[in-house]
Amino acid sequence: MKKILILNGPNMDMVGIREPGVYGHDTLKTIETETIAYAESLGLACDAFQSNSEGALVDKIHQAFTDYDGIVLNAAAYTHYSYAIRDAIAAIHKPVVEVHMSNVHARDEFRHKSVIAPVCVGGVFGFGKLGYRMAVDALAELLKE
Ligand code: DQA
Repeated sequence: MKKILILNGPNMDMVGIREPGVYGHDTLKTIETETIAYAESLGLACDAFQSNSEGALVDKIHQAFTDYDGIVLNAAAYTHYSYAIRDAIAAIHKPVVEVHMSNVHARDEFRHKSVIAPVCVGGVFGFGKLGYRMAVDALAELLKE
């Protein structure tokens, strides 16, 4: 069975509380639980992990080299400047789908740039929590034998 990881970066643990007009009222726990159930309904095993630390996210991406077939990644603010996360993605040769709950292109200028986009297979932005399911759909297709 293929196994995927839902990986969330800094401040995503505050979703449900932080800027509800942007990120909605669902907590990350709810989003993770729903996304895992959706992945399982497609025949994928799925884990979820969140960290506010760049190093912990890099370590988890490295772990995916041996333990996962693909990643759904919302690197949050690190998206815009973390070359460490970009290099970790490039190192593992596994499909990574970039997710943003908000439409980053309709927000602050600094959010328009993603340094990880060139090493991801693709991305989803602006659809709130639905974006995670869309990313799982993409991975499910890509991982079909
Ligand atoms: C985000 C967008 C980022 O710009 C921001 O720093 C986040 C969340 C999103 O899901 O829309 O923390 O990745």
